[in-house]
Amino acid sequence: MKIIVTERIAEEGINHLRESGFEVDVKLGLSHDELLEIIEDYDAIIVRSVTKVNAELLEKAKNLKVVGRAGNGIDNIDVETCTRKGIIVVNTPESNIMAAAELAVGLAFCVFRNIPQANAAGRRGDFRRNRFIGNELDGKVAGIIGLGRIGSIVATKLKGCNMKVIAYDPYIADEKFKKYGVQKCETLEELLRKSDLITIHTPKTSETYGMIGEKELAMCKEGVRIVNAARGGLVNEKALYDALKSGRVAGAGIDVLDPEPSYDKKPEEQNYKNPLLELDNVIITPHLGASTKEANYNVGTCVAELVADALNDKMVAAVNMPPMKHTDLSELKPYLEIAEMLGKIYYQTEKDTVQKIEVIYSGDLADKETKVITLSALKGFLDPIIKEKVNYVNAELMLKNMGIQLIESTNSNLDKYTNLITLKFTTKTRQLAVSGTVFAKEEIRIVDFFGYKLDFEPTPYIIAIQNIDKPGIIGQIGTILGASGINIAAMQWSRNRKGEKAVAFVSVDGEVSEEVLELLRNINGVLKATMIRF
Ligand code: NAD
Ligand code: MLT
Repeated sequence: MKIIVTERIAEEGINHLRESGFEVDVKLGLSHDELLEIIEDYDAIIVRSVTKVNAELLEKAKNLKVVGRAGNGIDNIDVETCTRKGIIVVNTPESNIMAAAELAVGLAFCVFRNIPQANAAGRRGDFRRNRFIGNELDGKVAGIIGLGRIGSIVATKLKGCNMKVIAYDPYIADEKFKKYGVQKCETLEELLRKSDLITIHTPKTSETYGMIGEKELAMCKEGVRIVNAARGGLVNEKALYDALKSGRVAGAGIDVLDPEPSYDKKPEEQNYKNPLLELDNVIITPHLGASTKEANYNVGTCVAELVADALNDKMVAAVNMPPMKHTDLSELKPYLEIAEMLGKIYYQTEKDTVQKIEVIYSGDLADKETKVITLSALKGFLDPIIKEKVNYVNAELMLKNMGIQLIESTNSNLDKYTNLITLKFTTKTRQLAVSGTVFAKEEIRIVDFFGYKLDFEPTPYIIAIQNIDKPGIIGQIGTILGASGINIAAMQWSRNRKGEKAVAFVSVDGEVSEEVLELLRNINGVLKATMIRF
């Protein structure tokens, strides 16, 4: 499979992908149009913040399965369209937060003490230090907008500078403000009016884009300093320019511009204009927040692993999947496996259209995060009938588009098993259910097949036989399979009542042809013989 990397990531990440058997093209500095021309060739794309993975690109990306965002913000990715198309979006939100927080604090020092300007003047032979008299951070009020991962690290660091830290974040519980010793502002206006330093750490959303404009800047203290190391455009650049010119804003440290220049072009190739670049009281860094060796390494290796896993159809904590509290997916793995297998059973053995699927979690699963297990079951259910691209990301949407109702429920009472996953399929005329369990942490078993009790360890190839419970059938099945050169690895029978119906799960070493299945169906007393591939 082919992966295109359009922005620089750590070499270790690229090596990991190549060593995992992927073909990787690193093509930096492509224009959007150039990327449109070639995107169809690729199964995955790895970007940072500049490449726009928008609807137009996704339309052309006929083979795209994964978008890897090396970094945190996903405002350059049309996640909704990706989800609709079953494209998995992964990012690395934790990998560069320290780097970004340190840069924001560094910019705060710079705008209070004019360090870059003084350095530049000194290099020109101008050492008149009285031109660079600044202010101390000590004792001043720092206003943080967005007390998330980076905002809270910045809060801790600025408190270490003896600043009084206040924050505005309407989506964070009061506990977090208390934990970081940060005074909560109920409104943005309150923060703007009180702060000597304003540092912004929100994502770029329709709500936050332009959240600091002319009106907001007019509410700020005269001589406020502003740092934006989050996303270009959170502070309206025109309004900031005017406020910096008038002196209402004494200085600004800006890591992110709107729009952003290319970070790979040489100066002579760069055609970037921004009035902010003309002002002496602005410090501009080239989206440098995540650019430390540590963060580069973390981000590059992390995104490479995620993209490789997603391409290999392993479960990854994708952006466009339900949020999970536990990021350690290994604990969930056996449940995901059995759920997917249970899902796969229905359309490999039955034909009636399913109208409703109920996923019932019993025993100690009842208080676990079951949403991804449900997605795994749906992925399995759809797999035999939808051949392309059904995955954790689009399975629920596909089910909805097919008009199939999904119900999830939990039941904490259970006698025999410590946990049980049941999938109940409702058609126009009947209900059929299959159940499975996990024991000893990783042993998976199918324990109920349409009402027949089993204790069956699933294997890749199984013949499911439904028959009348009468003597001689097992022998004939063995004879037919033996004569056809098919080795039986394991076999299990279950019957309702003596002389009524029974089912057999026959685990075989490989594919069984339709002809052989037909021979089995022709045995007197066999009602059905189907192949289940897990
Ligand atoms: P995060 O999701 O952990 O935190 C964002 C916080 O903003 C959340 O607590 C959220 O509740 C809050 N928020 C959302 N809307 C808000 C609003 N209208 N008003 C106030 N608060 C609001 O994100 P993070 O990992 O801390 O990243 C913060 C920003 O930094 C993002 O924009 C990210 O893209 C950017 N970033 C930049 C760099 C860089 O190189 N400069 C590096 C990493 C991250
Ligand atoms: C991020 O969101 O992770 C940062 O903006 C860093 C980057 O993309 O380079």
